Amino acid sequence: MQFFVDTADIDEIRSLAETGLLDGVTTNPSLVAKTGRPFRDIVADICAVVDGPVSAEVTATQADAMIEEGRSLATIADNVTVKVPLTMDGLRACRTLSMEGTMVNVTLCFSANQALLAAKAGATYISPFIGRLDDIGLDGMELIAEIRAIYDNYGYETELLAASIRTVNHVKDCAIAGADVATIPPKIIRQLVSHPLTDKGLDAFLADWQKTGQSIL
Ligand code: G3P
Repeated sequence: MQFFVDTADIDEIRSLAETGLLDGVTTNPSLVAKTGRPFRDIVADICAVVDGPVSAEVTATQADAMIEEGRSLATIADNVTVKVPLTMDGLRACRTLSMEGTMVNVTLCFSANQALLAAKAGATYISPFIGRLDDIGLDGMELIAEIRAIYDNYGYETELLAASIRTVNHVKDCAIAGADVATIPPKIIRQLVSHPLTDKGLDAFLADWQKTGQSIL
């Protein structure tokens, strides 16, 4: 499973890119607003740090305007993935931009039927939102499993990009369900590495090593 980070914070992205664990980045208008920086600068900075796909979302709501914005965003760098919302206009824009060779991430997906439409529109990625479904008492992970089954039934190449991930268990369950990509907030990526027994075990190894009085080099 590929790991994208879900943030527009360039310092976080730089630091995670250094770990070698990062395969791409997703942003959205809310994450961009949090930075207080100009959108195009943010996208250019991220694309300079990360080789993988970097999702940048259009803000127009009519297909023609989305296509124009998408074409403009795609000129920023080769790895820009244009993000469009899962509306009829978004699907039309997805079809056009995909046919022009631009990667498209269809976002705000909350049902398997929506994901089926995105695949038919030629989306590179579909972004089902797990956490926001859980928030209203539904089962976000069930949606991931449904989309996996539908895409496998028909051999759709659209990649299943699990979004709105809130917990480390979401990450594990996405991997079990066969998501191609998980886009994860920086805090959760850092939590994935931690285990109290790892810390405890390492402390014990180092204490015992100390007693030997040896050094490796
Ligand atoms: O980037 C889209 C998605 O990951 C947003 O997550 O936590 O705002 O529902 P969240």
